[in-house]
Parts: sequence; structure tokens; C-alpha cells
Amino acid sequence: MENLNAAKKNLTERGFLDIETPAINYREEILKLKKKKNAVLLAHYYQIDEIQEIADFVGDSLALAQQAAKTAADIIVFAGVHFMAETAKILNPSKKVLLPDLLAGCSLADSCPPEKFSEFKKQHPDHIVVTYINCSAEIKALSDYVCTSSNARKIIDSISKDQPIIFAPDRNLGAYLNKETGREMLLWDGACMVHEAFSMEKLIDLYKEHPDAELIAHPESEAHMLKVAKYIGSTSGLLNHVRNSKKKKFIVATEAGILYQMLQENPDKEIIPAPAKEDNTCACSECAYMKMNTLKKLYLCLKYELPDIEVDATLCEKAIIPIQRMLDISI
Ligand code: 13P
Ligand code: SF4
Repeated sequence: MENLNAAKKNLTERGFLDIETPAINYREEILKLKKKKNAVLLAHYYQIDEIQEIADFVGDSLALAQQAAKTAADIIVFAGVHFMAETAKILNPSKKVLLPDLLAGCSLADSCPPEKFSEFKKQHPDHIVVTYINCSAEIKALSDYVCTSSNARKIIDSISKDQPIIFAPDRNLGAYLNKETGREMLLWDGACMVHEAFSMEKLIDLYKEHPDAELIAHPESEAHMLKVAKYIGSTSGLLNHVRNSKKKKFIVATEAGILYQMLQENPDKEIIPAPAKEDNTCACSECAYMKMNTLKKLYLCLKYELPDIEVDATLCEKAIIPIQRMLDISI
């Protein structure tokens, strides 16, 4: 009987058996393991509240890449999605980079398969390639510059006006940037399913209830949402805007995880998530990939140092070039 219980405990801890073990205080254990192993926990604003609470650093894609580039920790635990952890690994090929759930992917990254993109690139040999960080290492290796929604404008403005550009993979961000910069970048037809899930019809109804609210949106959202938004920016841009605004009420069109940080910073303001087309549990837009990471998986990955991210060395050498260019321009 003792052996059976020990075996069950072992399997449960390793995630093979889904029996809750209330004896484990995941939060406490994660904090202990982090210290013991000199690990840094980086978390994106779309992570569940409990993870954001214990992270060493919470940020947008750019800030997280910058943190990954300068960390002195031996292990990087990335509470985000695969392309983020992969970027951290490219920046730190000799360090262990852990992702609590390897299946935490990204619909936008998936919308740009490397073979197809490589063909597309070959058809436009006079173009240089700027890619949004939400893409695979293979796509980064085919790029001249990487950017995030925080620095895309700056990166594009640093390129000579007469140089034709392919922008991938997000068609919404690309179209927005074309409008902002007055360029005609050739756009790859990719999108994020979370940012394309907002319902204009429901938004209009919500506006009727809250005519004093200001709509703010992430640039991965569709053009009709961006057209009516009063402010457009990355997750950190949205947070800065709400923090600095005199307005008291906001409708926020991005992944709902951002509300945790926004409410912490602005307890006196009313923050309403923009409504999604499909009715789901929170009536807002949640990224199923971002929400795959849980405290239990975080604990297990720190304990067993698995799953860790591997990137082929040759691929790393190619992919680091456009990432480093982005970091140099973003200083
Ligand atoms: P930012 O945090 O850089 O705005 O990116 C949002 C996003 O979609 C991450 O997947
Ligand atoms: Fe990818 Fe969209 Fe999820 Fe961000 S919110 S990780 S872009 S699917």
C-alpha cells in the first residue's frame, strides 16, 4: 500500500496522473525552486493572475526579450508561449530555457509556415523582410529584422523609404503600420485568432451601456476595431495609456489577461474587456495557448527542468541576426 501511494505521488508530481495533491503549495514550491536553481521567471501580461503574481518580471514581448537578453540567471522559465521561449533560447543558446507546456503555441505563428513563406520571399527578391516576433525560429532565420508591436514603427522607420518590405505574419498589424508609416509593405496573410474574435455588434451594445468609456485596442485587432479605437498599442502601450489617462472607464480590445495588471495599477478605474463573437466563459477574448500554463505545470517544469526548448545551432545563428538588430534599434 505504501509503495502504491508513493508511486501515485510520483506519477502525479510528474504530471502523468491527474490526482490533485493538496499537500503541495505550488506557489511556495516554485518560489523555493526558483531561488535554489537560480532561475528567473519571465511572464507575459496574458498569463493567469497567479503566475503574474509570482513572476520576477512581467512584460510585453519586447520587454521580455530584453530581459532574456540580459539575465544572469542559469535557467529561464518562460511563462508565455513557444515563440517567446524560443526567442529567449536563441538569445541564450547555452542556458536552459523552460516552457511549462510545450503545446502553448500561437495561432499567428502557425499562420506562417516556413516552406510557404520561403517561396513567397523568393517571388520578391528585391524586398527585405520584417517579421513580427510572433513567428517561428525558421521564419526569423528568413528575416532581416524582427519587431514587436512596441517597436514596429521605429524598426520600419529605420529602413530607407525606397526599400520595398515584406511584413509578416500579421496582416492586421501590417495594414495598421502601412497606414501609420505611409508605406506599402507587402503583407503576409496571417492573423491572431484571439484578436480577430471581437464582435463589433456586441461592442456597439456595450458602448450604449457605457457611452463614457474609451475603446483601446491592440494592433493585432481587425481594421474595423482599430478604426474606432481611441488608442492603439502593444500590451505595455495599453497599460501606459490607461495609467496616464484622466479617463475613468475603458473598453480593452486585447487578450483578457491584461486586466489583472491594469486593475492592479488602476483600482479607481473601470476596465471592461471587449466582447468576443463567441460566448465563452468570460465573454471576453482569451488566448487558449497562453492559458495552458498553470501553477502546477510551472512547478513541475522547474522541478524536473523539462520541457526545455531546443533550437538547432545553425538555425540559432541565423535567427539571432534579425533579433539582435531589433534589440539594437530598440535601446
Ligand atoms: P505584446 O505584448 O508585445 O503587445 O504582444 C501581444 C501578443 O500577442 C503576444 O502574443
Ligand atoms: Fe498568439 Fe494571439 Fe495568443 Fe498572442 S494572443 S499568443 S498572437 S494566439
